[in-house]
Amino acid sequence: MIIAANWKMHKTREETLEFLKEFVSRSGEIREGIQAVICPPFTFLYEAGEKQAEGNFRLGAQNMHWEKEGAFTGEVSPIMLEDAGVRYVVLGHSERRHVMGETDQVINRKMKVLADYNLAPIFCVGETEQERDEGRTGEVLKRQVRQGLQEVDLNVLQKMVIAYEPVWAIGTGRAAYPEDAREAAETIRRTLDEFDSDLGDKTNILYGGSVKEGNIAGFTTLPQIQGALVGGASLKPDSFIGLIKAAQEAG
Ligand code: PGA
Repeated sequence: MIIAANWKMHKTREETLEFLKEFVSRSGEIREGIQAVICPPFTFLYEAGEKQAEGNFRLGAQNMHWEKEGAFTGEVSPIMLEDAGVRYVVLGHSERRHVMGETDQVINRKMKVLADYNLAPIFCVGETEQERDEGRTGEVLKRQVRQGLQEVDLNVLQKMVIAYEPVWAIGTGRAAYPEDAREAAETIRRTLDEFDSDLGDKTNILYGGSVKEGNIAGFTTLPQIQGALVGGASLKPDSFIGLIKAAQEAG
């Protein structure tokens, strides 16, 4: 099971180090078989990366550019992430798609270059409320998967984690029903089979969107879901460790 913390644009350096200190000291509470991933803002990656050796977590980044280097003001390259000790990179997050205007094509460029780096993508997909109301959830998920993963190396697809995050559930306190997540994960898996016959069943799919201690087990106990991507409830060590424990106790 993978439980990933997406801190978005939150925390100072001091708050980051405090969180990690407490998280590392409580690592013993997390059972083997649970992979915690922490995705802080770029400015804290190096320091957080150094703490990986002490604690039971892997470092993730929230985004990256597709080029190795060049005239791309304000961007961060995959080689810089590797250098900081990053293992996972979130790509296609709803806020990148809907606030920063990233298209399926842009996300696809980023996915393609991962063949050259030792970084595993957490590839995010999910429908908006309007798309759900119009009964287009399946169609949207298929499009995001087909276009986002077009011509991506099989090695990248095999190390990829997918996060199903309905846009209307992110940061709203209104999580999806586990049944919705189950159905979406099935659609995603059958679309993945178009890339390689057993890719669908082998891929880890996380649910994200208003996950907290009280609802995580409803998702992680589903055979179709292998973990969670958590925003708001991952910002405090107590809350993040609490939800990891709730998931592990539920099995
Ligand atoms: P949330 O965010 O848990 O605050 O809803 C999830 C995400 O955006 O990954």
